[in-house]
Amino acid sequence: MRNIQLGKSGLNSSRFIYGCMRITGDNSSADRAKGKLALRTAIEAGYNHFDHADIYAGGLSESLFAEVLKESPGLREQLIITSKAGIRIEDTPNPGDPKCYDFSRDYLVNSVDGILKRLEIETLDMFLLHRPDYLFNAAEVADTLMQLHSAGKVKHFGVSNFTPSQVSLLQSALPLPLMVNQVEINIHNINSFTDGTLDQCQQLGITPVAWCPLGGVAYSAWGNTFSAADEQRIENELTLQVEKYQCQSWQVILAWLLKHPAQIFPIIGSTTPERILAAKHSLELDYSREDWYRLLEARNGEPVP
Ligand SMILES: NC(=O)c1ccc[n+]([C@@H]2O[C@H](COP(=O)([O-])OP(=O)(O)OC[C@H]3O[C@@H](n4cnc5c(N)ncnc54)[C@H](OP(=O)(O)O)[C@@H]3O)[C@@H](O)[C@H]2O)c1
Repeated sequence: MRNIQLGKSGLNSSRFIYGCMRITGDNSSADRAKGKLALRTAIEAGYNHFDHADIYAGGLSESLFAEVLKESPGLREQLIITSKAGIRIEDTPNPGDPKCYDFSRDYLVNSVDGILKRLEIETLDMFLLHRPDYLFNAAEVADTLMQLHSAGKVKHFGVSNFTPSQVSLLQSALPLPLMVNQVEINIHNINSFTDGTLDQCQQLGITPVAWCPLGGVAYSAWGNTFSAADEQRIENELTLQVEKYQCQSWQVILAWLLKHPAQIFPIIGSTTPERILAAKHSLELDYSREDWYRLLEARNGEPVP
């Protein structure tokens, strides 16, 4: 596994981050065992960075992760642990409350305390604001993050699903550099290529992290809006590239993301050991500019202007 510095953090993260959103499955003992095996496979394969959120399986993903940490003394120090908060599910704290985003001081501080308790660790390596709270006050949020940092609860900060202007706003009030913007990036959703997100990441040295990196093609997820004709064109191009690079189509799709000079870190969320291991092969592909544009053209249905 190749490692690169995350933002300006000094943290040496594996290029693939392992996503813990699905590790508990339906929370049956069989699914939990499968999740633990996925985590151990990822660790053995060289993934050293694990992505959580307080809302994944209602906190159970973090608790399951804590079990794996406890089973291997010394493991925690070898890993980068990220978690996120800021999304309040409906009916919390009171029945009838709507689902909302909440960056208020009390909410974020309590959320981080809950994360640390479930993970059974003292300090989070990275804390991300999960989705931008429409009502966020940059000065107040920056102050809250500094409070979490001073208390030794969080080492580094980042954001998720923020627009470039929201990143700029928060960064303008925050004395510490934001390390990460975690957004959806895949062959289906390339908004970050054109909305300034990846430009800003390059400019400010923020690491773009791609959630759902295979979305929409290798499997159906998160509202694939491609038509059958779009899918066929992409599949035809992928078939040619699979032949050329001697790999699987989803490995080509990962290579397509890795090619971007902003140095996108894909999050791998598969719980299948073979896939967790095989993802690494995409790091070895000498993926060409021409093939990058061929796949873009297949996606768009027309050549670039
Ligand atoms: N910040 C955010 O708003 C946000 C939103 C969503 C997700 N995330 C993060 O991103 C991580 C990854 O997201 P994700 O789990 O949606 O994406 P993913 O890694 O693309 O995996 C999602 C699903 O696709 C299947 N899959 C994976 N690779 C496959 C392949 N090669 N062929 C066929 N099926 C395949 C997996 O099934 P198997 O398990 O059976 O292999 C899994 O059910 C999450 O764990 C979470 O950490 C963040």
